[in-house]
Amino acid sequence: MRTQVGIIGAGPAGLLLSHLLTLRGIDSLVVEDRSRSYCEARQRAGLLEDGTVKLLREADLAQRLDAEGLEHGGIYLQFAGERHHLDFRDLTGGRTVTIYAQTEIVKDLIARRLADGGALEFEVADTAVAGLDTDRPVLSYTAAGGERREVACDAIAGCDGFHGISRPAIPAGLLRVWDRAYPYAWLGITAEVPPSTDELIYDRHPEGFALHTMRTPQVSRLYLQVRPDERIEEWPDDRIWAAFQRRLALPGWELKEGPIFDRAITPMRSFVSSPMRYGRLFLAGDAAHIVPPTGAKGLNLAMADVTVLADALEALLRGDSRPADGYSDACLGRVWRATHFSWWMTTMLHVAPDADPMTEELQLSQLRYVTSSRAAATSLAENYTGYPPLR
Ligand code: FAD
Ligand code: PHB
Repeated sequence: MRTQVGIIGAGPAGLLLSHLLTLRGIDSLVVEDRSRSYCEARQRAGLLEDGTVKLLREADLAQRLDAEGLEHGGIYLQFAGERHHLDFRDLTGGRTVTIYAQTEIVKDLIARRLADGGALEFEVADTAVAGLDTDRPVLSYTAAGGERREVACDAIAGCDGFHGISRPAIPAGLLRVWDRAYPYAWLGITAEVPPSTDELIYDRHPEGFALHTMRTPQVSRLYLQVRPDERIEEWPDDRIWAAFQRRLALPGWELKEGPIFDRAITPMRSFVSSPMRYGRLFLAGDAAHIVPPTGAKGLNLAMADVTVLADALEALLRGDSRPADGYSDACLGRVWRATHFSWWMTTMLHVAPDADPMTEELQLSQLRYVTSSRAAATSLAENYTGYPPLR
């Protein structure tokens, strides 16, 4: 078998790359080890930067996003019993962010790939790569029906997330890695109740961080800082809602509760590996880097990577290897900016188990600064809405 670009992983990175390559007249095959319904139901990110929305519009993928996405012109920061609004439109000259769930993006992308006749295989097993340092790398896998397949490619894109096989396929010693685990995790819930807020609330509370976000006008999504070793069974509904009621409380404001239909605990980590390329293997998205979700950057970074990669692969297949040679550096500038911003938001808003009174005052001072100084607020707004702007 033969394709121009073999793509491992049908997450946002792999699916969008496959679509962007089709727009450039390049054929690809996407292989995914999970089922289609699993990929479409996996609850993850929800917030798109200004440039990501524009990118999806340019790629003709935004019909449902434009109809159903919730555009937000800012966020609230809450601490020490006060809630402050940051107005991104005003601070950034009109930029906004949009709530549109990763599940919906994945559904839209899968539907579009299939409508365009794209090759997309779910429930494959034992994905492997070989010949990465040649100009004819091979992607092999066992198809859902049990048949082993070998596909000769011009290039392979490793879009298989943090636990995939692509990054470990790069010879040890050629990859440099930066890794930091945080002493907290997020318990995320989705609930059948209209959001109690018009825009997201990021809240630092002495008990720990809380975030009120949303999915639709009828569905709320909320996150609670918990210990990384906590089990979801320890958190019955009434304990979850009581924690949100305490942490998000504000005189004159009411948090509405409703049935919880999805819950999970996610550990938090910052991770960057470099370079994002070895021979004809190119890493994109979570396969190359992870950020804690406080800055809402993971999904946006994955989409930014493949935008650069689509252009680099188009040039490579034409015989011009310079954009492919520059791919890693072109991505890593944005990756490190997002890594710093996510780390900064995380450390400003979470309460570490060993936090001392000095740390608390430093966090509160930083929060007062970003909510009182236009220069500081502009810096947060510029990063949150996406820096450098993708479009
Ligand atoms: P993924 O979405 O991980 O896709 C990789 C795909 O590759 C998966 O479908 C996987 O099944 C497949 N795969 C893996 N190994 C193989 C293999 N060997 N063969 C074939 N296929 C394979 N970001 C935010 O901005 N906000 C959030 O609230 C948020 N919450 C998150 C919660 C969780 C539990 C996780 C894991 C991530 C979260 N993120 C969040 C980050 C964001 O969802 C990711 O950055 C985004 O999914 C990255 O997209 P991706 O396509 O690079 O990787
Ligand atoms: C979400 O809507 O899931 C979301 C929004 C902002 C974040 C993280 C998650 O920082």
